Amino acid sequence: PSEPPFVPYYIPFIGSMVQFGMHPINFIRENQKKYGNFFTFLMFGRKMTVCVDIDGNDFVFNARHSHVTAEDAYNSLTKPVFGADVVYDVPNAVLMEQKRMVKAGLSIENFKSYIPIFIEETNQYIDKHWTKEEDTVDMLKAISEMIIMTASHTLLGPEIRSKLYEGVADLYHTLDGCFTPIHFLFEWLPLPSYYASDKAHAELDGIFGKVIKERRANPDAKHTDMLDVLMNAKYKNGKDMTDKQVGNMLIALLMAGQHTSAATTTWSILNLADQPAVADKARAEIEQMMGTKVIGKDVPEPSYEQVKDFSVLDNVVRETLRIRSPLVEIMRKVIKPVAIPNTEYVIPAGNYLVASTAISALDEKYYKNAEDWVPSRWEQSDENEGSPDKATTDYGFGATTTSARSPNLPFGAGRHRCIGEQFAYLQIKTILYVLLSRFEFSLDPKRGMPERNYQSMVMLPEGPVLAHYKRRHD
Ligand code: HEM
Repeated sequence: PSEPPFVPYYIPFIGSMVQFGMHPINFIRENQKKYGNFFTFLMFGRKMTVCVDIDGNDFVFNARHSHVTAEDAYNSLTKPVFGADVVYDVPNAVLMEQKRMVKAGLSIENFKSYIPIFIEETNQYIDKHWTKEEDTVDMLKAISEMIIMTASHTLLGPEIRSKLYEGVADLYHTLDGCFTPIHFLFEWLPLPSYYASDKAHAELDGIFGKVIKERRANPDAKHTDMLDVLMNAKYKNGKDMTDKQVGNMLIALLMAGQHTSAATTTWSILNLADQPAVADKARAEIEQMMGTKVIGKDVPEPSYEQVKDFSVLDNVVRETLRIRSPLVEIMRKVIKPVAIPNTEYVIPAGNYLVASTAISALDEKYYKNAEDWVPSRWEQSDENEGSPDKATTDYGFGATTTSARSPNLPFGAGRHRCIGEQFAYLQIKTILYVLLSRFEFSLDPKRGMPERNYQSMVMLPEGPVLAHYKRRHD
């Protein structure tokens, strides 16, 4: 047995950090050509073993927890953001229980009550900020705000949502400031952002604690948000989540969904602006399903089933996630030497693993014209019969496979798979529904389609993300 090939480097310690950091997809592709699906590179003293294509995805996502863990890779990054005692700051078995509790809150019953809230919050943003007949706006900024308002209102509840204008948004922003590659690489540095995050957590604990206390004093009031679910959730041993855990878990959920969903919604709008025929196709399907005109300010409220069945929007989101997967790097740490099946390679303890589902999702081997945004490739037609995900693709909130042997896994697979996928699809599709009903979009002629920006933990469009809106009238 031997270790996977090592990418040569010229600068000791720093290694290939610059090449990887500038454009991870190109870096991985070039080395994949030279070394195959498994190779190691040095990044700031850390040995990073890249595992790509279907075999690499499967190896990382389904690795045994006794040998390979997510918490050893992520906790130094996520603890200052999420706070203590949740997600990667607890043993894996506890995370599994916490995920089960959250999943119980992401029920169809609750989702049904979220649709009017998504619509109301999106309309509120538009009525406040997009007041002209037509204008050019920073689309990423606008959509990020729609995502935080819709997510806070539905997951954290109306009380905390109403405090967003009173400084809670700034506290989130402070926590978010710790969620950068610097904090992954320099976990030992006493960065000022850590101090700020401790302070922000203390303030949020106070705000959340007060709301929880008020709710406990009024046990008969009905709520359909995640706060309510977690406040009443119990571990297998009969213990409650502490109030602090409830608050931290809510922060974790908000953070997990914020940049990922904002990036996906923004890229969707940019691509729809670039290909207005797809936007028109989505509008035609919406009107046909709703049995009424859907244009202008007073958008009718679709049912949960209708949003689920907006198949053009579903394909828009799925295709956007394929070519612009927000999480380009999935990390793990090897804690016991682990053999890669069907190879002679053994990865030593201490190495990090890097999976990148974006590599297989953009591989010509699996998708014709893989770099192009073609939502119709997901349509159930004879022409698409050979599509690699055909057997596992089902309409309605992107219910793609949970197996790791797929080239397209924007939500991961295995024990750490995303539990927010259905929430994200519902939220993104409903926001797109409102936006397409009320506006025509076009790209800014000077700026065009933005490039990808890899400098943040979540891959975003390179700013300024300009797009043009024009009101639609009856
Ligand atoms: C895990 C992607 C939205 C909550 C993951 C993972 C991916 C992912 C790739 C696996 C990470 C890994 O294996 O290391 C996305 C994308 C989203 C999205 C692309 C939006 C388009 C959300 C939302 C929530 C959420 C809205 C919460 C409501 C979680 C949680 C985990 C997770 C709790 C589990 C972490 C673990 O078990 O280690 N997500 N996510 N995500 N996501 Fe999402």
